[in-house]
Amino acid sequence: MANASSGLFSPSVPNLRFKVPPFLGIPIPRFDRFSPKVVCFAAPIPHKTPPASASSSPSQPRLVSQGCKLVGCGSAIPSLQISNDDLSKFVDTSDEWISTRTGIRSRRVLSGKDNLSNLAADAARKALEMANVDPDDLDLILMCTSTPDDLFGSGPQIQKELGCKTNPLAYDITAACSGFLLGLISAASHIRGSGFKNVLVIGADAISRYVDWTDRGTCILFGDAAGAVLVQACDSDEDGLFSFDLHSDGSGLRHLNVSIKQNDSNDALDSSNGSVLDFPPRLSSYSCLQMNGKEVFRFAVRCVPQSIECALEKAGLPASSIDWLLLHQANQRIIDAVATRLEVPSERVISNLANYGNTSAASIPLALDEAVRSGKVKAGQTIAAAGFGAGLTWGSAIIRWG
Ligand code: COA
Repeated sequence: MANASSGLFSPSVPNLRFKVPPFLGIPIPRFDRFSPKVVCFAAPIPHKTPPASASSSPSQPRLVSQGCKLVGCGSAIPSLQISNDDLSKFVDTSDEWISTRTGIRSRRVLSGKDNLSNLAADAARKALEMANVDPDDLDLILMCTSTPDDLFGSGPQIQKELGCKTNPLAYDITAACSGFLLGLISAASHIRGSGFKNVLVIGADAISRYVDWTDRGTCILFGDAAGAVLVQACDSDEDGLFSFDLHSDGSGLRHLNVSIKQNDSNDALDSSNGSVLDFPPRLSSYSCLQMNGKEVFRFAVRCVPQSIECALEKAGLPASSIDWLLLHQANQRIIDAVATRLEVPSERVISNLANYGNTSAASIPLALDEAVRSGKVKAGQTIAAAGFGAGLTWGSAIIRWG
């Protein structure tokens, strides 16, 4: 809620006491109305025994009619690389300022004939290959993006680019930097509730299209990329989504937005002698990204740890039991602050922000893909993932890789 007296933004965070009630019976998840259910307890971590002192509360039982697991990932980046030194030729900044305040050293930017759908399809192909799933076996493609090549959505275009002869359902999810996390939970909902088997979740954004490249307060932060994960149905006892926690608070929109505006002049209409006031409407276009960096920073370091703690509590897992902390890659200082609050040591924190900047919906699957392919994240390991950004929307999920 906005604090009217101070003018400071303070997103409302549900009180955990109400959000995570003590165990009173079987909690009713969102998927309960679709199909026969089995009760399963928060899956134990296969290779680790949580320390006895770490959690005093019992695991929260979950109703899971159908399990889902992450079986493949892929990513793609544009070829054009822009370093901090390159940026300092356009705006009054320096590598020292950017890397100290954000941890970012370089970013990739779509250029020339590159487009976001191609990039997303590249990432998707790699995820399908790793999962050993044919494009024709896909049931659903979720394209999480706020910067599609077409305002009406890019999901069907990616279905076409992948050559899916079976025409699986494909649509977009718009939730800025939280987009991938929401896509992941949506994929699980479709699998658990609707019987889908193979769901491709793509996070892809080209924020460079909406950045004011003369504004040093914002242009230094963002980059373009695509990442994808294949989520597959499995037996409930193999379920790889232990818990999640999601939030939105529209009162923070003013601190991070790319809003629509009517163009000042429209020659075609000005000469049309229209007799109805304000009709036809003038052509509209999107303004550049507007951000209050300090407020967004404060929101992230406050709300993200709370969300992860809530998801961990729902999963019945202590923070000490997770193998990896994987946050939306926005600012290294945000990542460090959240890790410190959760007491997760830096060697268990995934970060590739230095090379790519904030790639919005792509950042989590891009970082996951690099960590998996480099051998860092191994099958069976547990990840606490969290996204946050414009909307405002934020949330977290406790997942198992593979
Ligand atoms: N290079 C050099 N100086 C810069 C600069 C740049 N790129 N950007 C801002 N400055 C200057 C400011 O003008 C200001 O100068 P002043 O003290 O003379 O007025 C000074 O540096 C401090 O600016 P400030 O905005 O207070 O810096 P900050 O420490 O808050 O860092 C951000 C700015 C944007 C890096 C930081 O607020 C941030 O990362 N916020 C979160 C943004 C985010 O993650 N958004 C996406 C979420 S999904």
